[in-house]
Amino acid sequence: MPVTIRRATIDDIICMQNANLHNLPENYMLKYYMYHILSWPEGSFVATTTDVDEPQMDQLSLEDGKGQETKLDPNYLAPGEKLVGYVLTKMNDDPDQQDQAPNGHVTSLSVMRTYRRMGIAEKLMRQALFALNEVYGAQFVSLHVRQSNRAALHLYADTLEFEVLSVEKSYYQDGEDAYAMKKILKLDELHPKNFANRKMAEKLEDDFESDLLVA
Ligand code: ACO
Repeated sequence: MPVTIRRATIDDIICMQNANLHNLPENYMLKYYMYHILSWPEGSFVATTTDVDEPQMDQLSLEDGKGQETKLDPNYLAPGEKLVGYVLTKMNDDPDQQDQAPNGHVTSLSVMRTYRRMGIAEKLMRQALFALNEVYGAQFVSLHVRQSNRAALHLYADTLEFEVLSVEKSYYQDGEDAYAMKKILKLDELHPKNFANRKMAEKLEDDFESDLLVA
């Protein structure tokens, strides 16, 4: 199953929002995706595959020829091109933090359930970290993650070597605490080619329970 990682464009945002709604309780209005892509067009990425049942063309068209609108399938970016993951990033543009070195923020990352544990999130993240540093001059990048999200914590802390800066109490709407995490970015260490054939000496134990969203 070939998976392509490419830069996200404005045409991808409906699918990105759809994936976000499937995978995470933290959801955003479309204009917030637009804000990311239009302001930092090289910072966000999607993972796509063509190894899917080809959707009917009319699933993708807005108009059925008789002047009636047909429903778009939000899983498909184009006929046969399905979104399987995304990472949405931005530069920190908080006017209260202008004294800080330029820095990026990972707003949202997710991979569709049947495509997990294939290295897709790691690749999306490495592309985004490289771009934030190379294109926008980010000296470091930050993110928040739920304390209970063990899969994401393994990804950030072990695979990508983020450090935990602090615990932010009741950061999430349901009252859960967040780890605030940070990684210093160094261009020579970040180049995606360094990781093309990465082999883990030691495999972490799967923790599939942590993928489950609590209703
Ligand atoms: N259990 C333990 N470790 C895991 C797991 C898991 N279930 N999944 C990923 N990891 C860790 C491992 O360290 C893994 O490295 P390894 O396979 O070499 O051991 C590393 O992450 C990379 O794994 P990937 O295959 O790249 O991760 P995947 O593509 O499966 O995506 C993700 C991980 C994004 C966390 C996925 O499980 C997901 O979409 N979850 C729901 C949404 C979510 O939690 N997003 C992050 C929220 S925080 C934020 O958005 C800033």
